[in-house]
Amino acid sequence: MAIRNIVKHDDAILREKSRTITMFDQNLSLLIDDMVDTMIHAEGAGLAAVQVGSLKRVFIAYDEDGQIHEFINPLVIESKGEQIFNEGCLSIPGQKGDVKRAKMMKIKAQDRQGNEFIIKAKDFFAVVVSHELDHLDGILYTDKLV
Ligand code: CO
Repeated sequence: MAIRNIVKHDDAILREKSRTITMFDQNLSLLIDDMVDTMIHAEGAGLAAVQVGSLKRVFIAYDEDGQIHEFINPLVIESKGEQIFNEGCLSIPGQKGDVKRAKMMKIKAQDRQGNEFIIKAKDFFAVVVSHELDHLDGILYTDKLV
């Protein structure tokens, strides 16, 4: 496992759409393990693969109990309510801004073995999940400031 460089906001890759993952192999596991190390080292709440330069549809996020979850090929299947949260992004250091997000989201995704699961994210966890989902489509929180 290793800490990878985090791509900063002036890098055009952050505006690209990440691609569906079809190979649930050792390289994917290595990427996710490195993402975990990188996020912990940078003291972030979430990290998308594009932020370490890989255009794969995977992100990791802390839940409210401090557990890290992995989301591969995530899809929003339900979204409810609203909340405004003062967000930051590891790719945009030293800045923060208010963004409106869903209060609760239900996400369908796959784990690193390719098994599908459904998870409910609410409050802070929903903010992180929504922020990271946006990264997979080339969207930054600064596009959504309220
Ligand atoms: Co971010």
